[in-house]
Amino acid sequence: MSEKKTFYITTPIYYPSDKLHIGHAYSTVATDTMARYKRLQGYDVMFLTGTDEHGQKIEDRAKAAGVSPKEYVDHIVEGPQGVKDLWKLMNISNDRFIRTTDDYHVAAIQKIFKAMYDKGDIYKGKYVGKYCKPCESFWTESQLVDGKCPDCGREVQDAEEEAYFFRLSKYADRIQDLLENTDFLEPRSRVNEMVNNFIKPGLEDLCVSRTSFKWGVPVDFDPGHVVYVWIDALFNYTTALGFMNDKYHDFDKFWPADVHFVGKEIVRFHSIIWPAMLMSMGLPLPKKVFGHGWLLLDGGKMSKSKGNVVDPYLLSQRYGVDALRYFLLREFPFGTDGNFSNEALIGRINTDLANDLGNLVSRTTAMVGKYFGKNLPACADADPAQDDELMGLARGLRAAYEEQMEHYAFQNALVEVFKLIGRANKYIDENKPWVLAKDEAQKPRLARVLYNLLECVRISAVLLTPFMPDTCAKIFEQIGADEGLRSWESAGTWGLLPVDAPVQKGAGLFPRIDAAKELEELAALEQAAKAAAAPAQEEPKEPEYITIDDFNKVHFVTAKVLACEAVKKSKKLLRFTLDCGEGIPRQILSGIHEYYEPEELVGKTVVACTNLAPRKMMGLESNGMLISAVKEEPDGTEKLHLIMLDDKVPAGYGLC
Ligand code: ME8
Ligand code: MG
Repeated sequence: MSEKKTFYITTPIYYPSDKLHIGHAYSTVATDTMARYKRLQGYDVMFLTGTDEHGQKIEDRAKAAGVSPKEYVDHIVEGPQGVKDLWKLMNISNDRFIRTTDDYHVAAIQKIFKAMYDKGDIYKGKYVGKYCKPCESFWTESQLVDGKCPDCGREVQDAEEEAYFFRLSKYADRIQDLLENTDFLEPRSRVNEMVNNFIKPGLEDLCVSRTSFKWGVPVDFDPGHVVYVWIDALFNYTTALGFMNDKYHDFDKFWPADVHFVGKEIVRFHSIIWPAMLMSMGLPLPKKVFGHGWLLLDGGKMSKSKGNVVDPYLLSQRYGVDALRYFLLREFPFGTDGNFSNEALIGRINTDLANDLGNLVSRTTAMVGKYFGKNLPACADADPAQDDELMGLARGLRAAYEEQMEHYAFQNALVEVFKLIGRANKYIDENKPWVLAKDEAQKPRLARVLYNLLECVRISAVLLTPFMPDTCAKIFEQIGADEGLRSWESAGTWGLLPVDAPVQKGAGLFPRIDAAKELEELAALEQAAKAAAAPAQEEPKEPEYITIDDFNKVHFVTAKVLACEAVKKSKKLLRFTLDCGEGIPRQILSGIHEYYEPEELVGKTVVACTNLAPRKMMGLESNGMLISAVKEEPDGTEKLHLIMLDDKVPAGYGLC
């Protein structure tokens, strides 16, 4: 038995921190199309996608939403209009879906981290630098652009702590060689960017653990540390095949990956950090990383914070999923950025899909029905010379298409198919079947013309199947092409459709859209969505009142400072011993050392809230809170004054 050749392709795994938008769908539709193309060619394909669920950003979002991080991600991944639901809508044919919170993955990441540690490639050190929270990226001072995150341009924070490091520097030369002297990374333009911006300035060791939050894979041999989210995320490509776990058993079969599709902003992680870690683990490298461009909106990146995200549910409801899939891959070259607009989308649907493809199918099937009934008669007649151009184009199409697809040039592959579709439409006008139909003697020629058109439709539909699977299935139904005539092999040969294949005109594939009216409606919908999403502050706000009962819940008392000292190892905390009139002293910690020296506060009369739930800080319990007057300056700094009363006021008086 001959083994089928394998093909392993992945998408980036998505952060379930927000609902996904059409930009996210772009990577996944491209990956899906490539996976379907390879299956069509007869490969044994593994197509992996999933979600990247750890990290501070998710922990913060969950906290703000008042749920646990796991509940938060569960909802976005599995819930209504969640990640899995969107992929179902977009007809994504992934073979596997990994969540980095899956037990088998977490356990495998711990083993991988330990293996690199045992090898000496991960070591413990001290991290001093800057951290960009939204990007979950560490940066050294020199990497910042104008003091801001070089990826997203946002503010970064100081960070200093004990941490584990990966010896990225050790692999710098091998990585540079990989990038410059192989075609590991494409498009080639991204190679210079990586080498000049990251490798030539000197690759520094990478901080690969954090202690400031908990939502991550714990470093099992050093409690308190969690594995840096990118290490956790990148190895998904191997754990999902069963590497270092028993959940799956396909690692030997599918690794190394044939290609990772990734957005251009994460090329750095995939073309530098990822191969270095694989080298450290002694694993073969993926054959290719392809960094695709961004789908822009009004020239800028789509993002929830800009409120300019485009809703794939809305668009596919209005135009159908296949139209959307087609548009994404036809409108923009895969390697570069492209601007999304409703005009462009509607334009593509009307010209390519309704006019060219839709018309060809409906005219051809309608004419077969009108002139011959269910199917064509034997049409032995031919003066093939006049059909040579059309047939030549159809015969060469599969090879031309394959050449483009093998280079991930989806746009060009579609252009090739539409050359045949355009030529076939022209062939109808040249041969005027309606004129041939009037002359009984021309019936064999008429049958030949219609047969040729059916064959053009069939071959085009086979090659369009990876892009528009549902539409092509409908086309095959209409022209009576059974399974065997939908195959890759059959697309390479002219004349396979039986002359008497049962042809049946169906409903129009892509109804023409009244562009002006549609754009108006879309604009109105966008306006409504914006209004709904706009922050509520724009309207004058009613003050939020609390009742006297609410107010009385908080116990404020006067307190005398019996003792005050700085908390060891803390820059901010002071430890107060207070007489609150309770008979025994009360301990409260307060983060005000930058404003006061402990000595100056002893003997003072202050105000404490005494029924705040006790809290541990730096190992010490704080039983309440001291009340201060605080003002935040426009530059973000704070001014603070501890509320102090006339010392004649005794301890233990309630405030009301
Ligand atoms: O980066 N146009 O996840 P993510 C094109 N978890 N592509 C876009 C896009 C747009 N407007 N917006 C997003 C992550 N994408 C990591 C990946 S892989 C081990 C970890 C693409 O949810 C983006 O470029 O932020 C990326 O490839 C993918 O969506 C996931 O982005
Ligand atoms: Mg991202």
